Amino acid sequence: MEYNSESEKMFRNLVETRESCRDYSDKVVSREDLVDIVNTGRLAPSACNSQPWKLIIVDGETAKRVPEHLQSPARPINHFSNNVSSFIVVCETRAVLMKGATCDSQYYAQMDIGIVAAHLVLVAASKGISTCIMGAIQETGIKQILNVPDDVKVRLVLAVGYARTDDLHTKSRKCFEEIVGINKF
Ligand SMILES: Cc1cc2nc3c(=O)[nH]c(=O)nc-3n(C[C@H](O)[C@H](O)[C@H](O)COP(=O)(O)O)c2cc1C
Repeated sequence: MEYNSESEKMFRNLVETRESCRDYSDKVVSREDLVDIVNTGRLAPSACNSQPWKLIIVDGETAKRVPEHLQSPARPINHFSNNVSSFIVVCETRAVLMKGATCDSQYYAQMDIGIVAAHLVLVAASKGISTCIMGAIQETGIKQILNVPDDVKVRLVLAVGYARTDDLHTKSRKCFEEIVGINKF
């Protein structure tokens, strides 16, 4: 693949190598790095620039209380989070949209949450820090730990840490033709 610039090469490499990590080492991500990830990730675009999110950095003793709310007997996933020492909790707050921008067929805030989460994981990857986006969560428990107000939704929890190994898994994706249309569906 020919790249037009060094920045294209770096960014594409980041997109191609970012993956969900479910095996973390004991090395702890510093508060400074967590703040840096959030501070850059929050530059993500959002409908009407409404930024309908609150990004909560969770580390130290507080982080130890989170994993039990990321797993349940009904959903046997996210056990790996027991070994994660920091999280970024992505909450959805009320979006204030410009008059005329609302459409019945659209729900922008949840799209905005996905976009900011994508920015966060890519910024982390650029720093050599691994992540896993988790949507299968028990919201009530997380809200209690973090004092999240009733009218705010916890949408995603990002595990943030250092991968135990540098090995990358093979990306599994639908084939190009199935998900890309050119001039038609
Ligand atoms: C909205 C969303 C929710 C997700 N929830 C979980 C989750 O609860 N647990 C988990 O292990 N992975 C979760 N993932 C990660 C996906 O499984 C993963 O992104 C997908 O399989 C592609 O793999 P990759 O991220 O390694 O490229 C979630 C991803 C997204 C975008």
